[in-house]
Amino acid sequence: MTPSNPFKFLSLFLNACVLTAILTGNSFAQVADPAEKGERIYGNYCMTCHGESLINSGQSFDLRKLKVTEKARFENSVQNGKNQMPPWKGVISASDMQYIWAYIRTLANDKDQMTSE
Ligand code: HEC
Repeated sequence: MTPSNPFKFLSLFLNACVLTAILTGNSFAQVADPAEKGERIYGNYCMTCHGESLINSGQSFDLRKLKVTEKARFENSVQNGKNQMPPWKGVISASDMQYIWAYIRTLANDKDQMTSE
């Protein structure tokens, strides 16, 4: 890099920044398929108890029963735990929780209803 060309250097530097932001971007909007990402996170942390494709033989809660209106309940239970379920605060990030929720919505019993009580 020749010091006589500071603008070229600046431009290359900014390009590198943009590229880094794209490659390491973890904003929700940049993920091609949030539900697919959620499925992977679910597989790592939740599947042992909640079962493959959210189907378990009754040893834990059936996540397909969560209604589209129960997102706050979902977030609260995941963060703070419930009875036999450990709290996930500090393990599952807020954005990872959104991915898991997106995955759950694809398999939910009420998935066809956009608004349900
Ligand atoms: C160690 C086993 C175990 C793991 C791992 C686990 N859960 Fe659970 N989960 C349970 C059990 C048991 C219940 C039922 C709690 C109850 O109602 O007594 C439950 C309940 C829930 C509920 C419903 C709570 C409510 O509001 O009634 C949600 C939501 C949930 N789990 C999400 C998750 C997510 C997301 C993960 C992965 C990050 C996860 N769980 C991992 C055992 C587990």
